[in-house]
Amino acid sequence: YVNLILAAVAGYLLGSIPFGLVLTKIAGLGDIRNIGSGNIGATNVLRTGRKDLAVLTLIGDAGKGGLAVLLASYFLGEQAALVAGVAAFAGHVWPVWLGFKGGKGVATYIGTLLALNWIVCLLFCATWLIVALLRRYSSLAALTAAAASPVFAYIWSGVALSATCAILSLILYYRHKDNILRLLDGTETKIGGEKAAKS
Ligand code: G3P
Repeated sequence: YVNLILAAVAGYLLGSIPFGLVLTKIAGLGDIRNIGSGNIGATNVLRTGRKDLAVLTLIGDAGKGGLAVLLASYFLGEQAALVAGVAAFAGHVWPVWLGFKGGKGVATYIGTLLALNWIVCLLFCATWLIVALLRRYSSLAALTAAAASPVFAYIWSGVALSATCAILSLILYYRHKDNILRLLDGTETKIGGEKAAKS
């Protein structure tokens, strides 16, 4: 069990680095939590008008999930890799440094999946892209991809990855509960919609 505990702690710590918050602060944009949806993720960083920072946030938040999985699988084994992925995701969503109020998990989900099974990751991203292009809602794209990914994982990998995806997807849905309500009453912001509207 020592390996799994190590993977959980290291994964959590890596995952809890809030790239969106740090990058926008360094860029002098103030606290991203006071902008748009108040989320610290790439979608909300995009609402500041800084595409470059949004891309960097996506890369950082995805990269930390991928790195946690790769490090754990190299040093601690395959089971530890799954634990590290879930822990990194949890670290992003509930970072101790921000009073456990972190992001919604989409980028970290993608990075974790990329390192665990790139085909399932590709299917997740393709689903996201298709929904985003058709409906222009980042949240709806993520919710659809998250619903489908346990199925993709079951087909392309097996029960272990499918169960791991199901855990991540449940957390992702929970963190998107405000987005779900906004989607239902038609008030969700579209991609490329308003910039930096107050929350
Ligand atoms: O997918 C992140 C995104 O699904 C929603 O972010 O800022 O629109 O709440 P935001």
